[in-house]
Amino acid sequence: MNDRQALFEPIRRVNSERELAPLMNLLTCEIKALLGADLVSVFLFDQEKCELCSFISLDNQKICLDARLGIAGAAALRQETINVTDAYEHPLFYKEVDSRTGYRTKTILAVPMKSLRGDVVGVCEAINKQAGPFTREDVEILETFAAHAANAIETSLLIDTLKKARGRNEPKDELQRRIEIGQSYLRNIVGMSPQIQAIVRLIDQLRESSVDVLIQGESGTGKELIAQGLHYNSPRYNQPFLALNCAALPDNLIETELYGIEKGVATGVDKRLGKFEAANGGTLFLDEIGDLSLSAQAKILRALQERVVDRVGGHKPIPVDIRIVAATNKNLEQAIKDRVFRDDLYYRISVVRIQTPALRDIAQDIPVLANHFLAKHCAVMKVETKQFAPAAMNILQNYSWPGNARQLENEVKRLVASVRGKTISEEHLDLTAKVTQTITQENTPSYEGKTIDAVVNDIERRMIQNALNKYHWNKQRAAQELGLSRQGLVKKLKRLAITR
Ligand SMILES: Nc1ncnc2c1ncn2[C@@H]1O[C@H](COP(=O)(O)OP(=O)(O)OP(=O)(O)O)[C@@H](O)[C@H]1O
Ligand SMILES: [Mg+2]
Repeated sequence: MNDRQALFEPIRRVNSERELAPLMNLLTCEIKALLGADLVSVFLFDQEKCELCSFISLDNQKICLDARLGIAGAAALRQETINVTDAYEHPLFYKEVDSRTGYRTKTILAVPMKSLRGDVVGVCEAINKQAGPFTREDVEILETFAAHAANAIETSLLIDTLKKARGRNEPKDELQRRIEIGQSYLRNIVGMSPQIQAIVRLIDQLRESSVDVLIQGESGTGKELIAQGLHYNSPRYNQPFLALNCAALPDNLIETELYGIEKGVATGVDKRLGKFEAANGGTLFLDEIGDLSLSAQAKILRALQERVVDRVGGHKPIPVDIRIVAATNKNLEQAIKDRVFRDDLYYRISVVRIQTPALRDIAQDIPVLANHFLAKHCAVMKVETKQFAPAAMNILQNYSWPGNARQLENEVKRLVASVRGKTISEEHLDLTAKVTQTITQENTPSYEGKTIDAVVNDIERRMIQNALNKYHWNKQRAAQELGLSRQGLVKKLKRLAITR
């Protein structure tokens, strides 16, 4: 696929979005996918105030920055593309943001969004390309995309103004809009199995409520995806969705992180908004809640029970209106028995519970998921659309996927990056997948009672024999497929007493 084709669909999607907030969100996602950047911010430029405003920053909050600080602002003010290969060496780079967030910026590509009349309506900023610096090609792609984005933003701003002028929006329009946004998030949750269908139906049923939800399931089963589905299908859809990873939260920081700090607690300390207040009106996603220490659980409980927060150094509790969606891959019921999780907190967060299925339990969904990931990553990596050969799909479907959908997605990503042709066939697949399949497919008697050495020898023998048969005993090629040197293979043949 050439660049123009790769841009075609994203541009069409952008041009069909008429609402500002979803448009900004869409732009962010599309640019991320087009450039393979770690972080993307799309800013509106307010010339009068000399500010850049973003709806989607690290945490989905609306933030406004002084356009005179930093690279994105410079792109807007100078009306030119800025491609930075080493942020810390660049005189315009504003290090404060990194030091506040702990994020490490390396490369930046900032492109102004210019309307046909030449006004800069905003800036697209991509940070940390996943491989190397942003290339000449990336610059061209983002500049083309930004030109279209500028028009789409102008249109949506215009519609916004018209709507405001018309007085109150008709409730029907608003409802329609809500449903459309919600549907697009539900479409991200792929699967036809009864388990996935039940989850999608439940999200739909909860649409009018703001009830707290606990999502439990193994790692990589889509818990965060479901949390987003819940938020964007609720009346809070146009308020912040904020995710907090509890596992990454040290005990001594939990209060400032969650409740914020009042100005002047100590000299030089500025007021800082905690997550609870930042998510006000919206949803706070407490990820890995099972990893909170007991003392942290106690701290969080009061805020959840009373829906008020006490800023560090503050004098009066501040009411907050938030919906809590929590997720964990731990068995909280067992954790309560083991006295490492508070039962009162558990009852508080588990008003509704959703269990995400392990991928091996919904093997019928593997083909749709695999194809979904394939289409997604072919688009992201800008390569021609590929397909799975039936035999390859069969192997994917028979593998046990201990890392669930995330592992499947990573395997598909690897395949998109490594397979040249249009068709992904059996021999392209990772060997671990094949081995498991060989074992399950041939219905090998259970390994119970055997030593690990015996089992490993058995697997090695099968893999080697398969590879040698495939290449008619060409040891060089067989070794290559197995990830061995020719000598390494010869040694194994001797040890395992394999002969032609
Ligand atoms: N049903 C699904 N449909 C489409 N994509 C899915 C589905 N389930 C998972 N994924 C994808 O798999 C990846 C992992 O999902 P997610 O991060 O939501 O999992 P998680 O349960 O939060 O994992 P962890 O416990 O490790 O944080 C994501 O890229 C997500 O989009
Ligand atoms: Mg997660």
